[in-house]
Amino acid sequence: LVAGVDTSTQSCKIVVRDAATGELVRSGSAKHPDGTEIGPDHWWTAFTEAADAAGGLADVAAIAVGGQQHGMVVLDAEGQVIRDALLWNDTRSADAAEALISELGDGDRAAGAQRWADAVGSVLVASLTVTKLRWLHDAEPENAARVAAVALPHDWLSWRIAGYGPAGDPSAPLGPDLNALFTDRSDASGTGYYDAQGADGAGEYRPDLLRMALGRDDVVLPRVLGPAESGGVAHPSVAGADVEGGALLGPGAGDNAGAALGVGMTTGDVAISIGTSGVVSAVAPRRTADGSGAINGFADATGNALMLAVTLNAARVLDAAREVLDAGFDELASLALRAPAGSDGLVLVPYLEGERTPNRPDATGTLHGIRLATSTRPHLARAYIEGMLCGLADGLDSLKAQGVPVERVLLIGGAAQSPAVQEIAPQVLGLPIAIPEPGEYVADGAARQAAWVLAATGTAAGAEHPAPPAWSTTITATLDADPRPVIREQYAAVRDLV
Ligand code: XUL
Repeated sequence: LVAGVDTSTQSCKIVVRDAATGELVRSGSAKHPDGTEIGPDHWWTAFTEAADAAGGLADVAAIAVGGQQHGMVVLDAEGQVIRDALLWNDTRSADAAEALISELGDGDRAAGAQRWADAVGSVLVASLTVTKLRWLHDAEPENAARVAAVALPHDWLSWRIAGYGPAGDPSAPLGPDLNALFTDRSDASGTGYYDAQGADGAGEYRPDLLRMALGRDDVVLPRVLGPAESGGVAHPSVAGADVEGGALLGPGAGDNAGAALGVGMTTGDVAISIGTSGVVSAVAPRRTADGSGAINGFADATGNALMLAVTLNAARVLDAAREVLDAGFDELASLALRAPAGSDGLVLVPYLEGERTPNRPDATGTLHGIRLATSTRPHLARAYIEGMLCGLADGLDSLKAQGVPVERVLLIGGAAQSPAVQEIAPQVLGLPIAIPEPGEYVADGAARQAAWVLAATGTAAGAEHPAPPAWSTTITATLDADPRPVIREQYAAVRDLV
């Protein structure tokens, strides 16, 4: 058996699967406080509760942790967390991001943006860890001076699972060995000080960029493991007590890379996840360097690149439509399917909370084309859904503009279950669509990685196991491409007025 963990913004989820077949054996989850900053001990507590809910982990032979990306976990020399972690959704470092862009461009923003994209694959936004370190340096110099190691949420939890932690903490019998911290390429690529393609493709930290942010680079950064490389064993008090040699610890992954592995994405697939944010992502052999900032060139969990666009207006646009129309999830869908494609010219540009792709943080939404004939509940319902999907289609276009091959869309996230979203998506995206069975894709991806680590152990650097085990993903529906160009044409005309 293997275990996969998802330490997310709101909760910890654990799946226990059969290493050979991928069959789900047990699972458990536990919530913890959310928000934009949190004490990492909540992640540890939620992990132990989720492990209990999953019937314990004594019988697993390998475990790996996927998790929310970018969060800044700063540790002192005694392994104590110095301050609450600032998470990916904390925007207080937006000015720091702009300052770092300008500094790398010697005062020229466009040049700086391109240099960051060239160096680390992404133009900086407040999500990336390096901007949070600059904020710490400027706003809390006494805390910045104490930093002995910087980790990400999944690195820190893996370290705790291995038995390390603050000096004197009974749940950390191995003590505060900072050099035992490890991470993986995918999560490291979201820090802003790691180049997954540097050092001839082996990947390398960029201490110069870390120094720009923190004013020094004499801190421990987690060792970056390869895709099927083990970071050691879990402490027997946490996992693997009944297994000879203990439970191997996989490198883990950032959540988007974990989900790509969990849902079984291959080249040519694009995953569109409609959740709190919308994420459009694809696996490609190499990242590009998009100086416009639309596409982040992260690493995936298998040795490739994960190209990714994030929109801020996804499932929440449907929530807004339900509020306006006083309709439930199912009623919204049946209303929308009563209006024609293009909603007779009623167009919603859904920048309800600004937008990240395209980068328009201060934009507001627009509802255009209201006439007597379009002032109906079906027209409004359809316009909201079409508008949300057009925003995601813009992200898809940005991916295609980077040369990423796109043959099929995997539609995931809660809103993908809406019959209206399923019918309208092939009309807006103009591509065949597959709907995978709903699941815990991030935890599933971590479990699949754990099975890969298990299979690769004992072989030379996993040479005989160059790919993760072939677990199948159940596709519940496939939809043919059904392009209705009117939807995107009229959307583009209105969007460009905003
Ligand atoms: C990716 C990102 C989010 C977080 C959410 O860049 O910011 O997807 O990883 O957990």
